[in-house]
Amino acid sequence: MAENNPFPGENNTGHIWDDNLRELSNPPPRWWMIAFWASVLWWVAYGVLYPMWPTLSGNTKGVMGWSQMQEYEKGVAEVESVRAQFETQIEGMSAAEVLANPGLSEYTVASAKVLFGDNCAACHGSGGQGNAGFPVLADDDWLYGGTIENIEQTISMGRKGIMTAHGKILSDGEIDTMSKAIEAGNPTSDPNFTQKGCIACHGMDGKGMAVLGSANLTDGIYRFMPAEGESLLDSIKYTIKYGVNDVTEPKSREAVMPAFGERLSKDDIKKLAVYVHKFGGGQ
Ligand code: HEC
Ligand code: HEC
Repeated sequence: MAENNPFPGENNTGHIWDDNLRELSNPPPRWWMIAFWASVLWWVAYGVLYPMWPTLSGNTKGVMGWSQMQEYEKGVAEVESVRAQFETQIEGMSAAEVLANPGLSEYTVASAKVLFGDNCAACHGSGGQGNAGFPVLADDDWLYGGTIENIEQTISMGRKGIMTAHGKILSDGEIDTMSKAIEAGNPTSDPNFTQKGCIACHGMDGKGMAVLGSANLTDGIYRFMPAEGESLLDSIKYTIKYGVNDVTEPKSREAVMPAFGERLSKDDIKKLAVYVHKFGGGQ
């Protein structure tokens, strides 16, 4: 056929249609062919070494025996073994000891974040910043004391502060005067503070008692924040008039910290105590 080729020397394949339509033979450049065959070889080698081909019962395993699942499980096992070391140490220690150990307390803060989010954040806010009616945990003002032991006990046993309603003991005018003295940070300047028994729970100096959870009335920090549109003075008056957790007063404020002793393990409570203490306000 080559002898009859009407277009010699142009590197055609000899296939000619319609008198002059030719198929030319232009092989791809050499570098391209090398890359092409190299990639085919790579693909075959990969299929031999690694899991690749689907089979009826799963897939080929590859001669290396490697799999992503194994890699993942190895990673998880490593994390677990690191955790287990910390967890066993925490088991044998008191919350105070965990807190005093920098490595352990760091681990605890990291690992208790989820616990706090699941059990506490709904009331106290995700960073312990508090909510209306729920005290701030991230400051150094404590109703029930801020030592690690106080905090652990609060979480385990729960708390319920009781303040009797004073609407029948004090007139509205007296409540007004008293509230202004408290707002000014000086409750003891009102003689009624002593005469009407506030000192029994809030102390001679008005600074509160941790055993009762009675708030410090001199520091300008309020455990019951004014509601939307309410003034601080009105909020103080409300507390005095209707009390807190006073079952005889339907309008009484409610403030119950649930007990977690039955719901969470001792170690989880220990961790939470460290976590709360580490918000920065622990004493
Ligand atoms: C249902 C809402 C609620 C949940 C959930 C809750 N708390 Fe409380 N918590 C309160 C209330 C209300 C108080 C205040 C009790 C009082 O005033 O007598 C309180 C008080 C506290 C205090 C004492 C603060 C102080 O000033 O002394 C600590 C510490 C505390 N909570 C930690 C936690 C931790 C940790 C969790 C999660 C395990 C948690 N709370 C879950 C409502 C809640
Ligand atoms: C039986 C004990 C008791 C008596 C008596 C008592 N309180 Fe209280 N008071 C408490 C407790 C406990 C709290 C904190 C309640 C809580 O957070 O659970 C509190 C909270 C308050 C608060 C709210 C503080 C805040 O941070 O929001 C004010 C204001 C207050 N008391 C004023 C008074 C005044 C004024 C008197 C006297 C007329 C008085 N209390 C008498 C126990 C008492």
